[in-house]
Amino acid sequence: MYTEWTPEMSVGIGDIDVQHRKMVRKINEISEAVDAEKSKEEILEAIKFFEVYSEEHFKTEEGYMHVYGYPEFPGHQKEHAQIMADMAELREKFNQGKITEKEVYEGSRRVAEWFVAHMKLVDGRMAVFLRGKVK
Ligand SMILES: [Fe+2]
Repeated sequence: MYTEWTPEMSVGIGDIDVQHRKMVRKINEISEAVDAEKSKEEILEAIKFFEVYSEEHFKTEEGYMHVYGYPEFPGHQKEHAQIMADMAELREKFNQGKITEKEVYEGSRRVAEWFVAHMKLVDGRMAVFLRGKVK
């Protein structure tokens, strides 16, 4: 497990918090797959699940930022795109046999750390702006 949900991670907007909790679960599932010495296919699947879910979640946030004209939208979106690219690169390298399970584990840990920091700072700032607009 890389990280656990804590109340400080809450941004106070219902569906974003629900999605964030699920993302924490999904990133942990990558570490669990490696810890349990699952097959390459299963580890790849765990990564893919995280990516699919992240994409869906980022779309939710970006939709809100777009609709309500959030001034920091471009920078925020760039962070989302960067993490999607990093995760896809990690998956590709692992798929091609260029990196080991251990490197997947460490790479995903960095993504988890990024995600916690992003939730607290970048999403927190966005939530202050969205509060009162989005329920
Ligand atoms: Fe975000």
